[in-house]
Amino acid sequence: METGESLLSDRPGSLAQPQAAELTAEKVVVRFGGLAAISDVSLTVQRGEVFGLIGPNGAGKTTLVNCLTGFQAPTSGRIMLGGEPTAGWSPDKFRKQGVARTFQAGRLFRDMTVLENVEVTAVGLGLGRRAAIARAMAMLDWVGLAAQANRVAGTLAYTDERRVGIARALMLSPAFILLDEPAAGMSDAECEDLVEWVATIPKRFDCGVLLIEHNMRVIMSVCDRIHVLDGGRSLAEGTPVEIQDNPAVMAAYLGMEP
Ligand SMILES: Nc1ncnc2c1ncn2[C@@H]1O[C@H](COP(=O)(O)OP(=O)(O)OP(=O)(O)O)[C@@H](O)[C@H]1O
Ligand SMILES: [Mg+2]
Repeated sequence: METGESLLSDRPGSLAQPQAAELTAEKVVVRFGGLAAISDVSLTVQRGEVFGLIGPNGAGKTTLVNCLTGFQAPTSGRIMLGGEPTAGWSPDKFRKQGVARTFQAGRLFRDMTVLENVEVTAVGLGLGRRAAIARAMAMLDWVGLAAQANRVAGTLAYTDERRVGIARALMLSPAFILLDEPAAGMSDAECEDLVEWVATIPKRFDCGVLLIEHNMRVIMSVCDRIHVLDGGRSLAEGTPVEIQDNPAVMAAYLGMEP
């Protein structure tokens, strides 16, 4: 049995995986003073898929992820998890209900070991120390970092640091995991490597992945569906082929690529 699968079948009761099948933004508007960062955006991430969220800098991608994870309240519109309205939910409630995320600028505890970084998530969920360590080690094994378990996180290579961040989010047994530019700052080869690995998460962990990434080639190759934002508005949504063939997307987004 592979490690990812044993993590699923061995999941202790306190980590029962939430069953929501959809994470939805419905007519979401976010205003910061006079600026509309998000204007009337609707989208649904399905469990089991890799859903790409793309758009130029400042398009509103992070703001939308903040809404979908409870870090930003929509000015109007709503976020639904498994059909249930989430108004008033804290980020912690989103996490507990199965919505995990990583941040654009990774947030590891740099002075702690790799193992401790992952273990704290399990301890936070109420696992005892021994169970937390076992589960964290199984997760590190899956992400290919078991050999680095006792290393201080601040000394990790950049790509490994990102994997630890994703491992921490996966410790929550999420129904959805939202990754804000996990490959930012990486070379094309490193980015490809990481994103191809990310694309295996839905099957291994029975969850949906929302992925923000600027490398179009990588996005097109791993996403089931893609939503394009531009200036806070939805420009298009569809399969990679549909997005590639969309003239508005080409003009607004692909046209900016070198
Ligand atoms: N807390 C905030 N207060 C005021 N304006 C904000 C705030 N957060 C974001 N914005 C503005 O909202 C718009 C959308 O920003 P956001 O960070 O969501 O874009 P993004 O698509 O994630 O961009 P990037 O690709 O650079 O990460 C930008 O104009 C940004 O300056
Ligand atoms: Mg962003």
